Amino acid sequence: MARIATTLWGIALGLSFTVSAAAAADVAAGKKVFNKCKACHAIGKSKIGPDLAGIINRPAASIEGFKYSDPMQNSGLTWTEENLATFLKKPKALVPGTRMAFAGLKKDDDIQNLIAYLKEATVP
Ligand code: HEC
Repeated sequence: MARIATTLWGIALGLSFTVSAAAAADVAAGKKVFNKCKACHAIGKSKIGPDLAGIINRPAASIEGFKYSDPMQNSGLTWTEENLATFLKKPKALVPGTRMAFAGLKKDDDIQNLIAYLKEATVP
């Protein structure tokens, strides 16, 4: 009986380790996904694309001096995690006519990991 309890305890410990390791890996994996954005985006300054500093819950088209497309300016969106996930899956589906020339991320895992990374890395 004691042996079963010890075994169960071991399994529980093992599980909690796996869960926290996965949460940490998400951000690291998301950082790699962000490499696909770096051609156009940085955190802290605008390049071809607008500065992504503080992007989570930022209203769309709000970087002073960045030349956004009309559709982006008129989108009325706020970059909640949900809206970001929809946008990054297929930018032109959420904002038809956007100047962001990026087809989208096919894998939902990539999107979730990327958002986890953005949540940490873009805090101003
Ligand atoms: C080929 C260049 C390019 C790539 C690659 C790219 N973007 Fe963009 N992005 C842009 C441009 C240009 C805009 C402005 C779009 C507009 O005005 O319609 C933009 C806009 C955005 C916005 C809206 C910002 C705002 O201020 O409203 C977000 C969020 C965003 N990009 C995230 C990403 C992420 C995350 C990736 C990587 C998965 C990515 N982009 C890849 C060029 C790019």
